[in-house]
Amino acid sequence: MGFPEIRMRRLRTNATMRRMVRETTVRVDDLIYPLFVRAGQGLKTPIPSMTDCFHFSPDRVAEEAAEVADLGVPAVLLFGLPAQKDEKGSEAWSEDGVVQQAIRAIKSRTPDLLVVTDVCLCEYTSTGHCGVFRSPSARDRGMGFQPMNHRQDADATKTSSPRIDNDATLELLAKMALSHAQAGADIVAPSDMMDGRVRAVRQVLECNGFDEVAILSYAAKFASAFYGPFRDAAESTPAFGDRKSYQMDPANAREALREIELDLEEGADLVMVKPALSYLDIIRRARERFDCPIAAYNVSGEYMMLHAAAAAGLLDRDAAMLEMLTSIKRAGADIVLTYFAKRAAKLL
Ligand code: PBG
Repeated sequence: MGFPEIRMRRLRTNATMRRMVRETTVRVDDLIYPLFVRAGQGLKTPIPSMTDCFHFSPDRVAEEAAEVADLGVPAVLLFGLPAQKDEKGSEAWSEDGVVQQAIRAIKSRTPDLLVVTDVCLCEYTSTGHCGVFRSPSARDRGMGFQPMNHRQDADATKTSSPRIDNDATLELLAKMALSHAQAGADIVAPSDMMDGRVRAVRQVLECNGFDEVAILSYAAKFASAFYGPFRDAAESTPAFGDRKSYQMDPANAREALREIELDLEEGADLVMVKPALSYLDIIRRARERFDCPIAAYNVSGEYMMLHAAAAAGLLDRDAAMLEMLTSIKRAGADIVLTYFAKRAAKLL
């Protein structure tokens, strides 16, 4: 049987029919809204690189979080812009750091809103990199010190993709995650792409009685050009070089699945693919292979491409937004981290 008995358009004739046969729906429950917390008082300052996004000081962020909660969005993701940066990013684990203050403020105002925290040093280090570089003394203490390695390490900050000291960074990330848990975070989200960070974070949480804090791992995070607007917003552009020696090559899909598998073995509860739109195939393959919740990060560049096109009068902002979010869900994501969360929640 074929045409005319089969007419695909019969099920598209009206909105109710289309609603009934719709395979994918975006729900407010699926969304996480990122927030930028910056040192200071009484601040709610528009972020020039990101339409409709603001820097909030810790004393103002709870009021924004309450608005997010009222819209029914289940969670916020916090990024911090500290007062001071240094080589190690020490403010990242300070009890009175911006994110730690923000967590306490949000949790006391809206205890049911889930607070997710980004665990990464790039906003806190003076180098703008996601980890620390090997210090000469640490190198001398290391095993098998060789002149060859010495030469490479001495050059580590001069190459285009500088080499971060993976294992020394783990300890700092674990401290940061622990301090977020102590402040009341529900979920910690390591985004640094160091090997072994999920295990390190899981261990420190277990040892300190935070066995109920979940880990959302940025498991397959690519070295993407689509993070540009965020780096301006978070003031986390690397001072030199790029992130290609730790974030993934955009060309690799099988490697992304290995990253996810390893993070699950290390104790991740949820895993993320990032960015979303150019990586829908990765989301789909992850969905088919793993049975855990899968999140996708609709990143700043994706967000601003749409806003820029809409501002130029080239496309319908809300229709394009919903289509974008639907495509990420259709690919297989359960959860979407998006700067559109508030806007979408108002429409849905
Ligand atoms: C921190 C981090 C980044 C983003 C989320 N966490 C920037 C980066 O890796 O350079 C990007 C988010 C976005 O572009 O919306 N490492």
